[in-house]
Amino acid sequence: MNQIPLTKLAYKTLQQGKSLAGLAHKGVSTKLMEIFSPESIPNTENVTRDLLIQLRNSIDELEKTDWQEAVEGLYPKRQLFKAPWIEWFAKYPLIWLDMPSTWKRRKRRDVRDIPKSINREKYPDYYLQNFHHQTDGYLSDHSAEIYDMQVEILFNGTADAMRRRVLSPLQKGISKFKDKDTSEIKVLDVATGTGRTLEQIRTAFPSLELFGIDLSSSYLKQASKSLNNTDGQLVQLIKGNAECMPFSNSSFQAITCVFLFHELPKEARQNVINDCFRLIEPGGTLVIADSIQFSDSPQFATVMDNFRKFFHEPYYLDYIKDDIDLRLKHAGFTDIEGKSHFMTRVWSAYKPKNY
Ligand SMILES: C[S@@+](CC[C@H](N)C(=O)[O-])C[C@H]1O[C@@H](n2cnc3c(N)ncnc32)[C@H](O)[C@@H]1O
Repeated sequence: MNQIPLTKLAYKTLQQGKSLAGLAHKGVSTKLMEIFSPESIPNTENVTRDLLIQLRNSIDELEKTDWQEAVEGLYPKRQLFKAPWIEWFAKYPLIWLDMPSTWKRRKRRDVRDIPKSINREKYPDYYLQNFHHQTDGYLSDHSAEIYDMQVEILFNGTADAMRRRVLSPLQKGISKFKDKDTSEIKVLDVATGTGRTLEQIRTAFPSLELFGIDLSSSYLKQASKSLNNTDGQLVQLIKGNAECMPFSNSSFQAITCVFLFHELPKEARQNVINDCFRLIEPGGTLVIADSIQFSDSPQFATVMDNFRKFFHEPYYLDYIKDDIDLRLKHAGFTDIEGKSHFMTRVWSAYKPKNY
């Protein structure tokens, strides 16, 4: 059967469609909140026309890079179109049905509404919260089922494009192990959630041995459903705390970590970086992707501020002022590089060979 060529126009159209869908969803849901639960509306700053233009330009840059890296062969073009569309379509009504309970929690400022069945002693205290006012926090199958869609809506359809920005520094990192066959290279994705980053890594580098770790068994179950149900190498998923992971020293040639740090208190941020350093073989690379910060993107300060006012993100303000480069240096990493892509900053850091 002839394959339909995946063109730049098709990609741009898909991105525009996702962006419009995200904006429409947020517009309607905010209107509904104003009508049914006005007390839940936070006091956010107005976004000026100038800022909107800068945001649009920044999305265009991200999408240009996303397309260009596919053209250059870092990942196949089909990766740009890959999402469980039918599943998302079927589950979309759940997001609307969940809204009234989210408003109630916002109104009551109840940020610790976690399922009663959870054994709280098994989790760090900072984890037992409703991040983004999410029902059940990260601790239920329902939360895991709608998470990917919520993130795509939040970022107007750019979440996967931002996650893909770890692939280029990851490729640079693993290419340093010239003496190893790619099938001998082990990569761990820390706080893997529903496994979107692992899916992208596997499509780009199909022969790597991949691992994912997360504290939520519900999110890991969701990751397992999408990753280990399809062709491709088995991805090994482990439940554990990223601050002290159940692997021995120098187990991995590279580690990735996407959208975790802004949800951690500062001590935990350092603990995770230190533990990644321990787990990386000398000569290996850590790639972190997380929110932009005040220092690298001062022009988006209003957006960062509004984000933490609108969603429950208790450590975000501390995170956007934190010095991640310093934390990486403190752990022992060198050759630290950072680059921002729309709302995401990507750091890569190297564990010296002679360590
Ligand atoms: C915002 S989500 C990001 C998930 C995924 N990386 C992505 O790109 O969508 C944060 C994830 O971090 C996990 N998490 C938070 N604290 C953790 C910790 N201390 N150890 C392991 N996972 C943690 C949560 O369960 C959740 O899956």
